[in-house]
Amino acid sequence: MNAKHLQTNLSLSADQLAQHGVVYQYITPDPQTYQTSLDHWKQQRNYIAQDQITLTPNTPNLETLLEKFSKEHLHTDDEVRYILSGSGIFDIRSIQDEWIRLTVHAGDFIIVPANMYHRFTLTDEKKIDAIRLFKENPSWVPIYRT
Ligand SMILES: [Fe+2]
Repeated sequence: MNAKHLQTNLSLSADQLAQHGVVYQYITPDPQTYQTSLDHWKQQRNYIAQDQITLTPNTPNLETLLEKFSKEHLHTDDEVRYILSGSGIFDIRSIQDEWIRLTVHAGDFIIVPANMYHRFTLTDEKKIDAIRLFKENPSWVPIYRT
């Protein structure tokens, strides 16, 4: 994971992210063991649902999907992602209303807390395989910033 302040280009540590309410942990992407770590988070923060999202250059309507994710929005549920492979870019609005850019790769686990504005896009490889955790099944919808 690489986190930086977009305007100043200064790096941020996991502790500094935590000051904004963003949780980061590295979990070794070993299929034998990562689920135990995810189960721990599920228990700790009451996530009841889990699914997997895969985006590749062959995903139908990839550009339409990315357009949806890349517009600044928030959710009333946490946005929880564990990256299995590929990469992605999360921009998160800090409490000072400035962008923090998180570039994530395999093994990165992040929680963007509920009600925090953010946007997402892929890197140039246009590939990501990630597990998502949710507190509620159907309520996870984007609310766009106006
Ligand atoms: Fe989102």
